[in-house]
Amino acid sequence: MRSGLVQSFFAPTTRPRIVRAEGVWFTDSDGRRYLDASSGPVACNLGHAHPRILDAMMRQARDLTFAFPTQFETEVNERLGARLAELSGPGLDRAFLVSGGSEAIETAIKFLRQHAVAIGEPERWKVIALEPSYHGNTLGALAISGDPVARQVFAPLLASQPHVPAPLTYRVPENHSAESWARHCAGLLDEVIRREGPETILAFVMEPVGGTSSGANVPHELYHRAVRDICTRHGIALVHDEVMCGAGRTGCFLASEHWPGVRPDVVVLAKGISAGYTPMGAVLAPASMVDRVAAAGGFMHTFTYFANPLSCAVGLAVLDELAAGDLVGNAGRMGALLCEGLNRLAQEFRTIGDVRGLGLLLAVELIADKETKRSLPLVLNAVGRLQEIALGQGLALYARRTAGGRWGEWFMVAPPLTVTAAEIDELLNRLRSAMFIFEAEMEALQTS
Ligand SMILES: Cc1ncc(COP(=O)(O)O)c(C=O)c1O
Repeated sequence: MRSGLVQSFFAPTTRPRIVRAEGVWFTDSDGRRYLDASSGPVACNLGHAHPRILDAMMRQARDLTFAFPTQFETEVNERLGARLAELSGPGLDRAFLVSGGSEAIETAIKFLRQHAVAIGEPERWKVIALEPSYHGNTLGALAISGDPVARQVFAPLLASQPHVPAPLTYRVPENHSAESWARHCAGLLDEVIRREGPETILAFVMEPVGGTSSGANVPHELYHRAVRDICTRHGIALVHDEVMCGAGRTGCFLASEHWPGVRPDVVVLAKGISAGYTPMGAVLAPASMVDRVAAAGGFMHTFTYFANPLSCAVGLAVLDELAAGDLVGNAGRMGALLCEGLNRLAQEFRTIGDVRGLGLLLAVELIADKETKRSLPLVLNAVGRLQEIALGQGLALYARRTAGGRWGEWFMVAPPLTVTAAEIDELLNRLRSAMFIFEAEMEALQTS
C-alpha cells in the first residue's frame, strides 16, 4: 500500500484506481468500466460529470469561490436556502448550510440545544435515537448513532445518549409481525422518554427511511404516526435525518412526504442536495425557532466552509436539474422497475432474504437460510466478498456492516436518479452474474 493514499488508514484490500466517471459509469486506469449501482455512498444522485452542474460550478468559480458568512452575504446562499425551504414545505423555513451529513447532524443538535436554553429549558440535552442507525462519524453524531460496536471504541469521548430499538421490518422478534413490532417499538420510545424524564429530552432523531445501517428499512406507517404523536405530546423535537433518503431519492423530495401529516420539526439533508459534486449539508428549521436563537444572541456555530458560494451554486444547479428532468418522478418509476427486478433475483437466489426500500433507495439482505432468516457465518464476510465479485463483473456495490453484522448484512442498490430502464437491465444482469459466482463460492466455503 502506497502511503499517500487515504486507504492506508484501512485494512488492506485492493481497489480499482478510478480515473474518470460519466453518467452511471466509472472507468479505471486499465480502461475497465464499472456501473455505479449505489451512487457512491448514495450521494451522486445525478450521475457523474453532468454537464450543467459542471457549467454552474465553472461559472461560480469565475465569479466568487469564497465569502465568509459572518463577514458577507451572497446571493447564491440566499437562493439555495430559499429553494430548500420551498421544497421542504411549511414549517421548514430556514436553512443552515454546512459541508456534509455529520456536520449537519451536529448543527441540528447544537441548534436545538441553544433553542432550549434560549426558551428557558436548559435541562434539555438528551437526544434519543434508534438502534441500529447511523447519523455520522463526528463525536456528537457518533454518540447518537445506533452502532454499539463503534460506540464502545469511542465511548470515553462520547456523551451517553439513550437508544431505542429500530422498527425493523424483516428481522422482527418471534411472535411479532412488522406491524406489531412497530407498535411495540413506538411504545418503547414513550417508555424511555418517561423513564429519562420528558423535560430532559431535546430531540428524537430518526431516518424516515433507513440508510446503510438498517439496509433501507422502511418503518411501518403506524410507527411514523405514533412517533409524531409521542414527540408532540412530550414537547420533544422530532428530527428527521434525511441525509441519505432525502433530496428526491425515495420518489418524494423529503421521504417523510410518503406519510402525509407526519411532519418533522427539523430536517437534516446532505449527499443528494449537491449530488456528490461538492461537500454540502443542510439543517432546515422553523423560522420561529431560528428567530428565537438569533434574538438570544445568535447561533454559536460556524465552520470555515459553511454556506460556501461554490457549494451553494452547485446545490442550486442540482435542484434545478431535479426539477427540469423530473428526476424525483424518475426515482419513483425506476425504483419500482428495479425493485421488481431485485425481487425476481430473490426468487432465483437462495441467499437473498429480503429486498426492501422506497424509490431508488433499495437494499438486498443476504442470508444463509430463507426459512429461519439466519445470516451467513460472519467470518465469511459475505457482503464484502460479494462486493469484490461484483467489481469483477463491472458492478460497483456499496455496503457497510452495522456492529459487525449483528442485525444481518445487506448491500444498497441505489443508482443515480438519472438512471434509465436500459441501465437498470444492465445493473440487474451484472448483479445476477455476480450472484451466481457468489453462491457457488459460499456453498463451497460452507461445505469445506
Ligand atoms: C443517515 C445518515 N446520516 C448522516 C450521515 C453522515 O453523513 P456524512 O458522511 O456526509 O458526514 C450519513 C452518511 O452516510 C447517513 O447515511
